Amino acid sequence: MAREFGGSWTREKLDIIENYLKAYLTALKKQRFERWYIDAFAGDGSIRLAASGKKDLFEVRELTHGSARQALSLEPGFEKYLFIENDPSAAANLAKLREAYPDKRIRVMEGDANDHLRELCQKSNWTGRRAVLFLDPAGMQVNWETMEAIAATRAIDVWIWFPLGVGVNRLLVRSGEINPAWEDRLDRVFGTKEWRTAFYAVRKEQTLFGEEEHKLKTATPQAIADYYNERLKSIFPAVASNPRMMRNARKSPLYLLCFAAANPKGAPIALRIAQHLLK
Ligand SMILES: C[S@@+](CC[C@H](N)C(=O)[O-])C[C@H]1O[C@@H](n2cnc3c(N)ncnc32)[C@H](O)[C@@H]1O
Repeated sequence: MAREFGGSWTREKLDIIENYLKAYLTALKKQRFERWYIDAFAGDGSIRLAASGKKDLFEVRELTHGSARQALSLEPGFEKYLFIENDPSAAANLAKLREAYPDKRIRVMEGDANDHLRELCQKSNWTGRRAVLFLDPAGMQVNWETMEAIAATRAIDVWIWFPLGVGVNRLLVRSGEINPAWEDRLDRVFGTKEWRTAFYAVRKEQTLFGEEEHKLKTATPQAIADYYNERLKSIFPAVASNPRMMRNARKSPLYLLCFAAANPKGAPIALRIAQHLLK
């Protein structure tokens, strides 16, 4: 059963990923690396796109390949496909893809993407192996520790669907009085507590009762995007300088599509391709 995941930005995102995978496979064709494709929020293989970009009862919806099927359809493809998904029914559908693609090596890992990725990054032997990883969560599930584990492999190129408007910007409430559970989530996503001073200013006011301090949100969506990209640059040797901001029909930012490469030697070409696709 296909899952619905939005409008035109979903198509745009999948097109960029597909074009990157094609270019990657071509670039590594003559090299002796074993190539893996890792999809950490893999869905169930298919998605339904709102054909008109609107949501109403009579709208036509297009059933199309999700990221997992899209990657499996490439010929010649990767030596191995790893799909991580925490929803058991979606994971079961991913396992059925073995019938549709009998010549592909597919491994489905059911459970939390952070747990599986950390283990995969830390325990796999990355010598002689390279991978493209797609992180496509609907929300703020990707922890910074996971990003650190990915960077430490020095072998993985990663595309990140960062929940800029749908997650982070919403949690950063104007008053600065952020619910502690949300603060914790933001700490885990950014891997630092320093965002508090980056996104808020403290204003002092004289009142009848003396001086009072108020927090003032200074963060714009662009500032949050720049901040996350800078965080990536602190751990990856190469990060695309032009992550793409995806907006809804009313022009509000929803997600940011970022790219980072962990292998220093392969980074220049990876970056050139990714930045071209993000233009
Ligand atoms: C936006 S969808 C992915 C769509 C998919 N990339 C595609 O193109 O078809 C996000 C998926 O992540 C799964 N998910 C949510 N939280 C997760 C977690 N912590 N670990 C692994 N999968 C998770 C959801 O069940 C959902 O299928």
